[in-house]
Amino acid sequence: MSHLDWGLSGKTVIVTGATGAIGRAVAEGFAEAGCRVAVVDRDQIACDSTANALGGGHRGYGTDLRQIGQLPALVGRIETDLGLASVLVNIAGIILRTNDLFSVTEEDWDAQHDINLKALFFLTQAFAKRLADTGTPGSVINYSSQGALSGGLSGSVVYNATKGAITTMTRGMARSWAPLGIRVNSVAPGLVDTPMLKVPGQTEADREAMIRSIPMQRLGLPEDHVGVTVFLASDMARYMTGAMINVSGGLLMY
Ligand SMILES: NC(=O)c1ccc[n+]([C@@H]2O[C@H](COP(=O)([O-])OP(=O)(O)OC[C@H]3O[C@@H](n4cnc5c(N)ncnc54)[C@H](O)[C@@H]3O)[C@@H](O)[C@H]2O)c1
Repeated sequence: MSHLDWGLSGKTVIVTGATGAIGRAVAEGFAEAGCRVAVVDRDQIACDSTANALGGGHRGYGTDLRQIGQLPALVGRIETDLGLASVLVNIAGIILRTNDLFSVTEEDWDAQHDINLKALFFLTQAFAKRLADTGTPGSVINYSSQGALSGGLSGSVVYNATKGAITTMTRGMARSWAPLGIRVNSVAPGLVDTPMLKVPGQTEADREAMIRSIPMQRLGLPEDHVGVTVFLASDMARYMTGAMINVSGGLLMY
C-alpha cells in the first residue's frame, strides 16, 4: 500500500465561487490533480472562460446558487456531463460590510445568509443525496473564516455569524454522514489579499497595521489555500472529518 496516494485522479469535483479569487486557484489545483472540475459561479461567460483555462474536460455552470429549487438539477446536470461528483468545495460567498452593528438591515442579513449559509446547505444536501443513493464515498470542504472564532469586527459581524454557522454545520454534517463514507471539513482563511478584504476608506496605514497583526507578516494569497483544500478532498485525509483547518499565517492559532 502506498502511503502517499492522493486518489483524486479522474474524480469529478464541484467548486462553487470558482471564478472568484480563492475559488479559481482551488479549481486550478483540482485540475492539476487530474480531476474534472465543474466551475460553478454566477456568470456563465466567466465560468466558461475559467473552465477552458483549466484545460480539456472541465465545464462551466453559470448559476445563482440562491435558486435553491434548482440545486438538485444542477448536481444532476454535472453528473450527466462530467460523471457523478464525489467532491464538493463550497467557496461561493459574499460580505456586506456596514459601519457598525446599528446599521445592519434585514436585507443585509438575508443577502449574506442566503448565499453563505442557505445555498451552501442545500447544495451540499443535493450533492450528498446522490452519493447516498449510489453508495459512493465523498468529501465536502466548506469555506469558513477565522472570523468564525473571533466574531470579526463590528462591520462584519453578520458575515462572520454565517461563517460560524458553516463551521458548526460542517461538524453536524460530518457526524451525520460519516457512516455513509462522506467526510465534511472546513477551511478557515485569515486575511486574504482579494477584493473581499477591501474596506471602504481603508488607508495604506490601516493595511500595514493589518499585515503587522499577522505573525507571518504578510496577507494570505489565494494560492495559499490550494494545497490544504486538495489535501482535505484526497485519500490522504481519509480519517479526517469535522475539522476546521486554520490557514491564517498565525493570525489565529487553534
Ligand atoms: N478574502 C478573504 O480575506 C477571506 C477571508 C476568510 C474567508 N474567505 C472566504 O473565502 C471564500 C472566497 O473568498 P474570495 O476572497 O475568493 O471572494 P471572491 O469574491 O473573489 O469570490 C467569491 C465568489 O462567490 C461567487 N458568488 C457570490 N454569490 C454567488 C451566488 N449567489 N451564486 C453563485 N456564486 C456566487 C462570486 O461571484 C465570487 O466569484 C468566501 O467564502 C469567503 O467568505 C475569504
